[in-house]
Amino acid sequence: MSDLASADIAGRTAPALDIDPYADAVLESPFEMHAALRAAGPVGWLQQYGVYAMGRHKDIMPALKDWETFSSTGGSGLGDIRKPGAWRPGSPIVEVDPPQHTKVRTALQRILSPAVIRQWRQDFEAEAERLADEIVTQRSFCGVRDFSETFVATTFPAALGLADSPERRENLFLLGALNFDGQGPKNERYEATQRKADLIWDWYLDSMKREAMVPGGFGEKIFQAADAGEIEQDVAPLLVRSFLRGGLDTTSSMISAALWYLAKDPAQWQLLRDDPSRVRGALEEAMRLETPIQNVCRQTMREVEIDGVTVPFDSKILIILASANRDPERWENPDRFDVTRQTMGHLALGNGVHMCIGQMIARLEGEVLLKALVSRVSALELTGEPTRALNNNLRSLATLPLAVKAA
Ligand code: HEM
Repeated sequence: MSDLASADIAGRTAPALDIDPYADAVLESPFEMHAALRAAGPVGWLQQYGVYAMGRHKDIMPALKDWETFSSTGGSGLGDIRKPGAWRPGSPIVEVDPPQHTKVRTALQRILSPAVIRQWRQDFEAEAERLADEIVTQRSFCGVRDFSETFVATTFPAALGLADSPERRENLFLLGALNFDGQGPKNERYEATQRKADLIWDWYLDSMKREAMVPGGFGEKIFQAADAGEIEQDVAPLLVRSFLRGGLDTTSSMISAALWYLAKDPAQWQLLRDDPSRVRGALEEAMRLETPIQNVCRQTMREVEIDGVTVPFDSKILIILASANRDPERWENPDRFDVTRQTMGHLALGNGVHMCIGQMIARLEGEVLLKALVSRVSALELTGEPTRALNNNLRSLATLPLAVKAA
């Protein structure tokens, strides 16, 4: 961890900021905090946590591309996992740099190729249509529990090849919450989630083993890649672990956010009714505005000057993707949800070598589910105030009360 005294070398020193990205009120509504960070310059020093933070799109995009300067090896959270106190083994995909990263990423990209993912479309569509029919019959429903979560908790583990069980859904969402809470400080929110997760630890460890993988899923193919020598044997279960922890909540967050924005603005729903291919734009906008993974972390491998401000070697930097995604310097009317917007360049899926490897899967899930609803529903209505599930790094809704009118 760096300190202010060491931040005064070549350029300007990063201003010390008294902001807490993990306070409840900020997690509820982080937008003022983002604006304060952007106004403070390219980099701020979060004194409470002893880390730097970046919030401007024009600084963040090049940083994500420059893995040699902004390394992932210090870990995806606030602590530096290479050092005593925060030490733990890193994830073999998200917490490594090239060339180690390239080897694992290449093997995974072969397993999760576009051709493989396209084969899942039919199964995903069948489930989307079943669920949309159910919702239309029900008329009132929760957009999170009854819809986005139900869908991803069925389709994604089936594609992975994780056997179904009565506790699977609840356990997977708990592991997702733990993963993302763990990327923030070790605060009370994290401790509470960890206590709950302790109760399912054996299930979790068993779920990433080869024996837990149903034949035909991509989990099995990860172990086969290890047999073929494409990745190390001990890396295979850790990759399954990454998918178990990172693939559900993020996608569900994107889908329920899209529903929320569409329910708030009937004209946007009508645009989808007129041209269902616009569901893709709705999903990108939902990702841009809500940014399911709010931050990623990087460690500086050298002293670096960011737009005139110096950050010392070996500093942890919190890169606030969510702030870049509403940066008024980059986006016109940044807070407006517009399914026709050109969203290219949003950073909800990251950028550079670590850009989300599951993005095609997430988009496919969102697309088939929203399309199934759009074809059946003439009007989507918000019937109450949604509530948030507060997490240190995952932005998502806990409840989203909705009603639909059948077309
Ligand atoms: C809307 C849904 C999703 C969002 C917003 C999202 C977001 C992200 C982001 C921001 C990163 C970059 C992390 C970094 O730079 O440190 C990332 C990487 C990753 N994502 Fe996703 N993700 C989503 C869905 C998924 C799904 C469905 C899967 C699983 C199939 C997945 C698996 C991964 C993996 C394994 C990485 C690490 C890639 C690497 O380090 O090379 N994600 N995701």
